[in-house]
Amino acid sequence: MTIQTNYNLQTHTSFAVPALVKGFASFDSLEALQEIQEVATGYDQTLILGGGSNMLFTQPYDGLVLHNQIKGIQLLLEDDDHYYVQANAGENWHAFVQHCIAHNYAGIENLSLIPGNVGASPIQNIGAYGVEIKDVLHEVTAWHLQDKCLLHFSASDCAFGYRESIFKKQYKQQLAIVSVTFRLNKKVMLHTSYGAIAAELEQMGVHNPGIREVSEAVIRIRQSKLPDPAVLGNAGSFFKNPVITTTHYQQLQQAFPNIPGYAAGEGRTKVPAGWLIEQAGWKGHRQGQCGVHKKQALVLVNYGGASGADIYQLSQQIIDDIQQQFGIALEREVNVF
Ligand code: EPU
Repeated sequence: MTIQTNYNLQTHTSFAVPALVKGFASFDSLEALQEIQEVATGYDQTLILGGGSNMLFTQPYDGLVLHNQIKGIQLLLEDDDHYYVQANAGENWHAFVQHCIAHNYAGIENLSLIPGNVGASPIQNIGAYGVEIKDVLHEVTAWHLQDKCLLHFSASDCAFGYRESIFKKQYKQQLAIVSVTFRLNKKVMLHTSYGAIAAELEQMGVHNPGIREVSEAVIRIRQSKLPDPAVLGNAGSFFKNPVITTTHYQQLQQAFPNIPGYAAGEGRTKVPAGWLIEQAGWKGHRQGQCGVHKKQALVLVNYGGASGADIYQLSQQIIDDIQQQFGIALEREVNVF
């Protein structure tokens, strides 16, 4: 086990921007993490890195970055209706989804091809095409970095919301997620009502889909509009879809009759940030070495050579413009350091 100093994280994050950190080490077991903690002194802050697919470094990080590479997937238990499958935090998310499909564990096929690792999935409450992690999560096991003890969280303990959880709030930067246990279904209940999935299955000529076909449809949709981070640096959706009052939404409808909106409960409406950004004229806009993706305005991209500060500055210009044009405050989904 070695701690590298003045390490550049560039190849560890999907935005691929230069990111100098004071210390860096990897761990592949809880014991290895504990060993690092024993010898790592002189660091005021610690950050756990997973797949690096949702982070933007805008300045050097004066702390210790610990790369979680704890691997392993196991079926813990099954009953009449469910499989309880535990995946360690360092497993690649999409590989885990494919493992579940191969074993006929149903429930996360709509979450195919989401970049990142299993450990980040409950932090973000990752979601796509009508399914969120909260729907299938059974338990999260995490190591408390300061108190040096294991904690267990049930789904309700996680206080999940839209791209939100307790891990982004009161436990922010305090835990290393060790494993996540999912409650997956034996009886397949497909979620194909999200328009694009049904259309894609139709185009694929599939009339009687199973979880494999739904996964394939999701992969095709994502590949058609989301850039591959291996080719073009990005972190998926850069912003959250804002939730505004339905009264505000109705006012906007007067000026923009085509503005999409989805009921979000209690007199609130969720508006696609991608629509707002496109409407404001930013889609495909390039600014130096970064820009707004031409096929999905919610995604900011690094054409190669951009700094985190460049991307952050572009995101701020977009936030200011959307505020001015629509009176809506966009929030970043990406974690900024
Ligand atoms: N739209 C536009 N222009 C654009 C993009 C979107 O007008 O450039 C409008 C369209 O009206 C479209 C609507 O926005 O019907 C929704 O677009 P899309 O289905 O692509 O989804 P999204 O709201 O942009 C969200 C998630 C994605 C997830 C998709 C599918 C967030 C922040 N993003 O995007 O998640 O894959 O739904 O469920 O909630 C991610 O979090 O990184 C991510 C990619």
